Amino acid sequence: MLLVYWLVLVNLAAFILYGYDKSCAKKNKRRVPEKTLLFWAWIGGSVGAFLGMRFFHHKTLKPKFFVVPVLMVLEIIICCLCLYQNYHLVTTDYEVDLGLSSEVTIVQISDLHNQFFGIKQSTLLKQIEKADPDIIVVTGDIVDKSHTNFAISEDFIEGAVKIAPVYYITGNHEIWIGDDKMAPFYEKMRSLGVIFLNDTYVDMGSYILAGIDDRSLDSFVAYPPFDDSKPVVMLAHEPQYSGLYKNLGADLVFTGHYHGGQIIIPGLGGFVSPEYEFFPKMYQGVNDIGGMQQVVSRGLGNSILPVRINNFPEIVVVKVR
Ligand SMILES: [Fe+2]
Repeated sequence: MLLVYWLVLVNLAAFILYGYDKSCAKKNKRRVPEKTLLFWAWIGGSVGAFLGMRFFHHKTLKPKFFVVPVLMVLEIIICCLCLYQNYHLVTTDYEVDLGLSSEVTIVQISDLHNQFFGIKQSTLLKQIEKADPDIIVVTGDIVDKSHTNFAISEDFIEGAVKIAPVYYITGNHEIWIGDDKMAPFYEKMRSLGVIFLNDTYVDMGSYILAGIDDRSLDSFVAYPPFDDSKPVVMLAHEPQYSGLYKNLGADLVFTGHYHGGQIIIPGLGGFVSPEYEFFPKMYQGVNDIGGMQQVVSRGLGNSILPVRINNFPEIVVVKVR
């Protein structure tokens, strides 16, 4: 979204600047330097600059400004690629054997960051429905601190609870937004039937489903006693605490947070984690940590860096046996 705001701003500024310079030329007033006019085209305002050139009949015959339509075509191509990379949803399927008597299909939604996937989140919800989940687990950052839009995330929750029971834990963005601002949204989620698993668990019959509040990651000690003959499936936002999850007895953990490292470079992996760790070991997939299986979802939305490259937004589907 930040990228969209930026593009609107620079293109509008470029258009106005070309118009202003044309009026200065007519009135013999001090002109805007050509370097400045071209600068706005180079920083993303080439569409506004091109429209300004055409609309105000300004600089259209100057060879220096022939670069503007070239930049415009490049900018449009880059924008289309970015949109495709940020909004083309994929489903990733995994299978994990925990020795369950019957198979359970778990859909994981992580790091939505109130990203928009169709009217009322229809594209996202249709793809979840297709996976025919027994449960949907939401592993934090359902909204984003810097561009919070609760309505978009509410649309997702409203649709998701109609597909399967939804289990939720917080991410760092919910903590950053604060309980006061989050309270009405949490209330809405609860009223729709979402089950909160912050520092607690539920016995699902053949397995234990546990969760950790993101703010407890540095201090969490133990869950109240549960039937430890059953495998433990755990929800936690941040992958780097795998030692804690293992100590708590997890057999399978669902995490997110890393957004696939934003840019996936073939042969090298995900570029950077939110903690500015370059090429983190775990950035996607199912990772074996001493027998514990840890899923790291690439997530669906973006936060500070609004661009994904070679890293499509992901719905994770795990068939647990
Ligand atoms: Fe996130």
